[in-house]
Amino acid sequence: MNRTEEIFLLTETKKMHFRHRKLFQTLTCVVLFLYSILVLYHSFYKGVSNAQNDEAKSKVVVKKHVFERTLAQESSFNDGYSVSMSTEIPSATATVKPPTITLDDVFISVKTTRNYHNSRLPIILKTWFQLAKKQTWFFTDSNDADFQARTNGHMINTNCSSSHNRKALCCKMSVEFDTFLNTDKK
Ligand SMILES: *[C@@H]1O[C@H](CO)[C@@H](O)[C@H](O)[C@H]1NC(C)=O
Repeated sequence: MNRTEEIFLLTETKKMHFRHRKLFQTLTCVVLFLYSILVLYHSFYKGVSNAQNDEAKSKVVVKKHVFERTLAQESSFNDGYSVSMSTEIPSATATVKPPTITLDDVFISVKTTRNYHNSRLPIILKTWFQLAKKQTWFFTDSNDADFQARTNGHMINTNCSSSHNRKALCCKMSVEFDTFLNTDKK
C-alpha cells in the first residue's frame, strides 16, 4: 500500500463514518418525531374519551332521575312496600315504592278458531294454562261447550268470521281489546 492509497482509504472511511452519523441522526429525528406525535395523539384521545365518559355519565344520571320520577309517580298509585333508592347525587335520594307486577296483573289472550280447537287447545290446557287459569282467555268464532267447561268459561265467541284474513283477525282483536279493557289487568 503506498501513501496515496492510504490517504484515499482514510478519506473513504471518514466519509463512511460521516454518512453513518448522518443516517443515525436522521433516524433519531424521525423516531423522536413519531414518538411526539404518538404522545400528542394519546393525550388528545384521552381528553376526548374523558369528555364522552362525562357526557355518558350525565346521561345516566338524567335517566336515573327520570326513572325514579316515574317510579315515584307509579308508586303513588300502588300499594307496594317502600325501599330506599340510593343515587349518585345525595340530594336526589328518595324513598320510592317499586312497581309490583304480579300474575294477576297480566292478561293472556289466545286467538283461535273452531277448526283448531281439538288439535291445538288440549296441549295448552295441559301445560302453561294450568299456571295462569284465571289470566288466560281464548277468543274463537264458535260456541264450544266442551272447551268452555275445560277453560272454566274462558272461551269467548267473538262472532267473527273464522277465516284468516285481516278483517276477521281485526274483528277478533277488537274483542280481545274490549275484554282486556273490561278487566282490571295492567
Ligand atoms: C256473539 O253473539 C251472541 C249471540 O248473539 C252474543 O250473546 C254475544 O255477546 C256475542 N259475542 C260478542 C263478543 O259480541
